[in-house]
Amino acid sequence: MSEEAQVELEARLAEQEEFEPSAEFVEQANVSDPEIYDEFEENWPECWERAADLIDWDDDYDTVLDDSNPPFYEWFTGGKLNASYNCLDRHVENGDKNRVAIKWEGEHGTTRTYTYQDLYREVNEFAAALRELGVEEDDVVTLYMPMIPELPIAMLACARIGAPHSVVFAGFSAEALATRMNSANSEFLVTCDGYYRRGDPLDHLDKANEGLDGVDHGVEATVVVDRLGDDGFGHDLRGNQHGWDDLLADHTGDRVDPVQRDAEDMLFLMYTSGTTGQPKGVKHTTGGYLSYAAWTSHAVLDIEKEDTYWCSADIGWITGHSYIVYGPLALGTTTVMYEGTPDFPNRDRLWEIIEKYSVDIFYTAPTAIRAFMKWGSRFPEQHDLSSLRLLGTVGEPINPRAWKWYYKHIGNEDCPIVDTWWQTETGGMMVTTLPGVGKMKPGSAGPPLPGIDAQIVDTGGKEVEAGRAGYLTVNKPWPGMLRTLYKNDERFVQEYWQEYSDTDSDDSDDWVYFPEDGAKVDDDGYITVLGRVDDVINVSGHRLGTMEIESAIVGVEGVAEAAVVGANHDLKGEAVYAYVITEDGHDGDDDLRGRIIEGVEDAIGPIARPEEVVFTPELPKTRSGKIMRRLLEDVANGDELGNTSTLRNPDVVEDIQQKVQQQQRT
Ligand code: WTA
Repeated sequence: MSEEAQVELEARLAEQEEFEPSAEFVEQANVSDPEIYDEFEENWPECWERAADLIDWDDDYDTVLDDSNPPFYEWFTGGKLNASYNCLDRHVENGDKNRVAIKWEGEHGTTRTYTYQDLYREVNEFAAALRELGVEEDDVVTLYMPMIPELPIAMLACARIGAPHSVVFAGFSAEALATRMNSANSEFLVTCDGYYRRGDPLDHLDKANEGLDGVDHGVEATVVVDRLGDDGFGHDLRGNQHGWDDLLADHTGDRVDPVQRDAEDMLFLMYTSGTTGQPKGVKHTTGGYLSYAAWTSHAVLDIEKEDTYWCSADIGWITGHSYIVYGPLALGTTTVMYEGTPDFPNRDRLWEIIEKYSVDIFYTAPTAIRAFMKWGSRFPEQHDLSSLRLLGTVGEPINPRAWKWYYKHIGNEDCPIVDTWWQTETGGMMVTTLPGVGKMKPGSAGPPLPGIDAQIVDTGGKEVEAGRAGYLTVNKPWPGMLRTLYKNDERFVQEYWQEYSDTDSDDSDDWVYFPEDGAKVDDDGYITVLGRVDDVINVSGHRLGTMEIESAIVGVEGVAEAAVVGANHDLKGEAVYAYVITEDGHDGDDDLRGRIIEGVEDAIGPIARPEEVVFTPELPKTRSGKIMRRLLEDVANGDELGNTSTLRNPDVVEDIQQKVQQQQRT
């Protein structure tokens, strides 16, 4: 192509606002008939049998949806099944035992391959080991592990014996681990000695042990995977700690019958951040969650079992649960797992992996795409990415520029992109285009999926006009929804649900789910998600509660008060800004700043580390004493400030503004 033609093409791409999937993609897509939207609407809730049909049931369910006690909806009631059976045994039995289930790529380029038979064997052995350690049905097992194959193996082993898992992201701190184990009353932990980050071994067991010391009840047993071998830190195992390999050796060849679970039995707990300081234990069930993860993997990610599929998230977050483990394995495909970071040893690491495994479908986060963009297209250009058929993003809004870069430089203008909006609570994708059906609009996630009833409303709950910002709501239940917050039904209802009793009917349609996101919709019904409307911020796709960070900061000696907000950040999406008032007799100096950062890392983990700590004698407050966070956000973003006349102390704002500007310059 001539240079001129190239330049012209680039310009056209930059202006283009709508993209269609290629005829070739549509032809092979799992879902390609636009009628599906009407079919689901006309046949609701029975339409969800399409999802349930993707998995095997030991006993058929009697009812698709039981809405007799909203918002405590139940799905596929009366049905019995086992998630581990669905992800393993049935593929082994159906002639796919030699198909690769997990392709694991270690940071150093070491690899491990598990066929469905391999995975089946090891999951059975570990399930037998868990039983021997005393794990019983319904005991919560905490998994504090990085991206190593033993993590999905442990998840499936728990599912096999009906013990819900609670995975705690390995980057979280000891304290965060203890909080979650305490909240779930979890007496079992599976962890590892360490893992590799940017070439260096990292001590993980030390952190796990410190966490165990903070558990306020007895811990029955801990299992420790030996990941580092000779690079390890030489920890001796404690009395009730067992080596993974030893346990498996004791159970070689053992088989454990999958426990029949009720559709509504808990499959797992996943802690996530909300408005208050305490993380919430989101409860997902066996039948609804698994059906929904499988259905969205089929309809949106277009996964077929012949595919090699890669989601680059961490299993420590919901994306990894639904779209590295449960969805892809339920469908019997090959799922890739990568231990390391995208820029080690080189910035082409991900593209190298795509080429090496001939990946068909790639699912990642906008924060990663922004980094790829910054590094430049020469890295993907070093590799043959022509195996790719579909791309996806999740975790935060993607701006049209990043979308187009991804489309062109990774997808070669040939792969549809699904921009999938969803949450820990929703269990699976909710708003996105179906790649074989709809046109794509960069920056807008798309319409709600078939069967999902989403709207944008104002503060009074009335639907707003197209183009106006409002609150995103979901007006009908869906199979993948959270059922409650662990041991806290009241908080579940209060945080997420609103009942509109003034509507005409008095049925369950009155209950509306609030995800706490702002959004707008266009004339085609495409939803653009604008971001959180509560005190949750999104740093590199990681969901963090500002209150959690604040409570860590006020725990530091010398701090009197703190306010944390999210500020715009080119790569991370949002960055943590902490405004801090010191106690009398303490200076806002580098020592205190260092201790504040350390305090946050100890309480939560390095992901929550403040970008800026701004010391101030006062925080801007309303006359009723509420901190004006919006104003602090504007200051951090260098935005024009709104009306400050309602403040009790308007003078403080200018002072803070100057400090922030000064710090941002240095
Ligand atoms: C945000 C991650 C815009 C949103 C699966 C949501 C998004 C929060 C998108 C949930 C998207 C996720 N576009 N925003 N495609 N996907 N979000 O629980 O604010 O870690 O409420 O689940 O991420 O984060 P969580």
